[in-house]
Amino acid sequence: MTGTVTELRTAHTADLPVATLAEVRALLDAAFGDGLTDDDWEHALGGVHALVWEGAELIGHASVIQRRLLTGGRALRAGYVEGVGVRADRRGRGHGAAMMDALERVLRGAYDLGALGATDAAAAFYASRGWQLWQGRASALTPAGIQPTPDEEGCIFVLPLAVPLDLSSELTCDWRDGDVW
Ligand SMILES: CC(C)(COP(=O)(O)OP(=O)(O)OC[C@H]1O[C@@H](n2cnc3c(N)ncnc32)[C@H](O)[C@@H]1OP(=O)(O)O)[C@@H](O)C(=O)NCCC(=O)NCCS
Repeated sequence: MTGTVTELRTAHTADLPVATLAEVRALLDAAFGDGLTDDDWEHALGGVHALVWEGAELIGHASVIQRRLLTGGRALRAGYVEGVGVRADRRGRGHGAAMMDALERVLRGAYDLGALGATDAAAAFYASRGWQLWQGRASALTPAGIQPTPDEEGCIFVLPLAVPLDLSSELTCDWRDGDVW
């Protein structure tokens, strides 16, 4: 689209108008084949969003929210990346990388580590940016205690930052409705 300015902006959820949040939800519903559940959508809120605008049209979104991840006897402050999506007809142009650049800057400045649950299709995208696949067991700190989450093993990526991590040890996430990872 010649002449249309593409711009990446970051903002906290609190500073995004309701109409923009509705655009984000629509973008993500389309970007993920089956759409987002309400829980998936809620998981992407309450942190810092990276938004790519092509003129007045939203073509990309990713956000980072805070969670606690337990490993090695510590409760680490994790920046958890959610809702990463670029409009299908705008993929392969560097927008995904630009959004991750912006969020990784937030991660480096504010968190002990970055973490995310990758779709199969996007795993190589994160790996190429230095994100590392968690090798050990995965679990969740549920209201009934720590429960294994074996189905999620093999799709949890971390970005080691402020603290050394043993990727072969157990990683436990805090509790939430919907998909815990
Ligand atoms: C994953 C996604 C966000 C990538 O966005 P994008 O704008 O196409 O990515 P970019 O153009 O910035 O690509 C950056 C680099 O990653 C590579 N890449 C992008 N998507 C990739 C993929 N799915 N697998 C492997 N490599 C990928 C690109 O080739 C590029 O490499 P290069 O720098 O060597 O050229 C986009 O494909 C998408 O929205 N997918 C559907 C939703 C989804 O699965 N989101 C991830 C949820 S965890």
